[in-house]
Amino acid sequence: MNTVILREINNETMAEMGRIIRNGGLVSFPTETVYGLGANACDDTAVQSIYAAKGRPSDNPLIVHIADVADIGTVAREVPENAKKILEKFAPGPITVILKKQPYISNTVTAGLDTVAIRIPSHPIARALIRAAGVPIAAPSSNLSGKPSPTKAEHVIHDMNGRIDAIICGGESNIGVESTIVDMTAERPTVLRPGGITLEDLRTVCPDVAADSHILQSVAEGEQPKCPGMKYKHYAPDADVTVVEGSRESTEKKISELVAKAKADGKKVGVLAMSDIDFGADLKLSSGKNNKEFANRLFDALREFDNQKISVVYAQFCIQDGYGLAVKNRLYKSAGNKIIYTGD
Ligand code: TXA
Ligand code: MG
Repeated sequence: MNTVILREINNETMAEMGRIIRNGGLVSFPTETVYGLGANACDDTAVQSIYAAKGRPSDNPLIVHIADVADIGTVAREVPENAKKILEKFAPGPITVILKKQPYISNTVTAGLDTVAIRIPSHPIARALIRAAGVPIAAPSSNLSGKPSPTKAEHVIHDMNGRIDAIICGGESNIGVESTIVDMTAERPTVLRPGGITLEDLRTVCPDVAADSHILQSVAEGEQPKCPGMKYKHYAPDADVTVVEGSRESTEKKISELVAKAKADGKKVGVLAMSDIDFGADLKLSSGKNNKEFANRLFDALREFDNQKISVVYAQFCIQDGYGLAVKNRLYKSAGNKIIYTGD
C-alpha cells in the first residue's frame, strides 16, 4: 500500500484525511500524548484493519476519540456525576474514561466488552481530524504491537509506512506517554493505566480514585486484568532492558558496575539516566531532570537504542514524583519486569 505522508496541513488536506477515515481508511495522527492510528469507530471492517496493521491481538480494545465533551452521549450510554467532574477538569487532554457503551459502538472496538474507553484529545490536529471525519475515531497508539509508542512522525513512518493510508506529521507529542485511563464503571473509580494526568491530580476532583494493582505488577498466567492491554508485552525495544531503581548514588554505582561487566562480555551497552555522568556506556541518553521530562523522552530513547544497535540497556529510576508512576509502568514493561532494586 502506498502511504501518503502529509507534511502540509491546511483545510483542504485535512478534509481529505477526514474523508479517508469516513470511508474506511486508516490515518495516523499526532495527539498530545502519542501518535494514534485512527479509523471510523462505526465501521467494523475499518476497525478490524487497525488490528491487522499493528499486529494487535483482537481481544485488546481500542479508545474512541471524540472532538468535544458535549458529544460523549453519542458513545457512552450513561455518564456518572464523578465522570462529568473529571472530564470538566481534565478534558480535552490526556485522560480516558471507561463508561458503559452505546449499543451501536462496534464490538470490534470494545473487544466484546460492554464498556468503552473514550478520550477527547487536546491536540489541534487530532481535533481537526475528528471534526473533518464527522465520526468518532477509534485509535490505539500508532506503533507495531509490542513496540514503544510513537512520539514523533518519524517513529510512525518507521513502523507504519506501507501498512496504512496516510500519516499526518505534526511534530513531537509534548507529553510523551499515553493518557491516564480511569474506569468509571467500577464501584470506586480506578486508574487502570497511569499517564498524562497524575493520580494526585485526579484526586483533587475525585478523592476516592483507586489505582489498579496491575499498574506495576505483571499479570499472572490465566489472570484476566480489567484493562486487557495489561497482559501483553509492551514498549519493548530490541535491546534487553533492565531497570535499576533506588537512590541516585546507589543506582549510579550499580549501573557503572553492570556496564563494565556487560562491556567485558562484548555487549554494546546503553544507559538511560538522570545522572549527569557517562557510566562508560557506548550510548548514554539523558532522561531529563524529573519524571515529567523522563516521560517525554522515554519512547524516543528506547527507539534510539535500537537505531544504534545497542543490545543491553540499563535504565536508572531514582526519583519518585507525580509522573513517577506513569514512567515506571512503561519502564517495567519495556524491561519485561527485570528490575534491580539497590535497596535504599
Ligand atoms: O494517549 C492515548 O491513550 C493514546 C492516544 C492515541 O489517544 N492511545 C492509546 O491506545 O494508548 P492503546 O490502544 O495503545 O491503549 C489503550 C488501552 C489498552 O491497554 C486497552 O486494553 C485499554 O486501553 N482499553 C480500551 N478499552 C477498554 C475498556 N473498555 N475497558 C478496559 N480497558 C480498555
Ligand atoms: Mg499502545
